[in-house]
Amino acid sequence: MFQFLEPHAPLVTLKVDGRDVQVPAGASVALALLANTGGPTRYSPAAHGPRAPFCLMGVCHECTVEIEGQGITRSCLSTVCPGMRISTETGNGTL
Ligand code: FES
Repeated sequence: MFQFLEPHAPLVTLKVDGRDVQVPAGASVALALLANTGGPTRYSPAAHGPRAPFCLMGVCHECTVEIEGQGITRSCLSTVCPGMRISTETGNGTL
């Protein structure tokens, strides 16, 4: 459904929920997730409803994920780096 506009950019490998994913260097984490999983990035704490990136500019907070070493963060404002470990946020997450 989603694809990157620069298919020849160098790739970096991340782990998303334990699965290896390759994305172009310099992409945001939100774009990496949309292109590779197409699914929710988090589940709401109260109703456990699936949520996904909406604004892609840091306003809506629908894209939060847990990034190892950074805690819960907005994926649209984070840039991928090699070896990054990302987890889908479930419930309240950890700070
Ligand atoms: S998509 Fe809205 S804050 Fe990230």
